[in-house]
Amino acid sequence: MKKIIIAIDGFSSCGKSTMAKDLAKEIGYIYIDSGAMYRAVTLYCLENGLFNTDGSIQEEALRQQMRQIQISFQLNPETQRPMTFLNGKNVEERIRTMEVSSHVSPVAALDFVRKALVQQQQEMGKEKGIVMDGRDIGTAVFPNAELKIFVTASAEIRAQRRYEELKAKGQDASFEEILHNVEERDRIDQNRAVSPLRKADDAILLDNSHLTIAEQKQWLKEQFEKAAHAS
Ligand code: DC
Repeated sequence: MKKIIIAIDGFSSCGKSTMAKDLAKEIGYIYIDSGAMYRAVTLYCLENGLFNTDGSIQEEALRQQMRQIQISFQLNPETQRPMTFLNGKNVEERIRTMEVSSHVSPVAALDFVRKALVQQQQEMGKEKGIVMDGRDIGTAVFPNAELKIFVTASAEIRAQRRYEELKAKGQDASFEEILHNVEERDRIDQNRAVSPLRKADDAILLDNSHLTIAEQKQWLKEQFEKAAHAS
């Protein structure tokens, strides 16, 4: 069977990464979490003093330093889970903190950041056999992807899932704070000038508010088989 490109887009915290990761593992494809790349750039900005006290970014400084930011992925040999590296350092844990979550949207709205990351993402998909999740994968990164899924769920359900995830990791956060962050990111992601979050016309819509992980997995596998056979 020919290898294809699978683009999974949608709102934040709707379980895109889990479903994309599971599918990639099952079908032997490479999984790329494009959000991790925007998070890594954000962590770089935080660590290098590129945020002003009002939360805005020192754009010129970031533009000049973009070339110094190297992002890569490696599989954790024990868990087989992907780990994100920023300039050679494993930052997988640090990019998932609330601090990064609440600073990432303005970074992801910068056209020169998107241009640089989209180019790297397209390079990663050159050989196909890839599942990539994000916000603009089906619209901007791989507009010709053979399978496009757009995932959504209610903001409350997504915030609850995020809350449980952070709590399980022992991180401190309130449900209200997370809900606010989820809604705020939805608003910024949908309204930004460059590559706003929107469903590609040919993407299949999946509202997983009331689906179990197993049901979702089964559904996705069926979509993959249909798309792979058709191509
Ligand atoms: O999926 P996530 O929550 O880890 O994404 C982090 C942020 O990065 C989110 O606010 C939207 C942005 N993002 C983006 O603009 N484009 C992508 N392809 C992936 C993520």
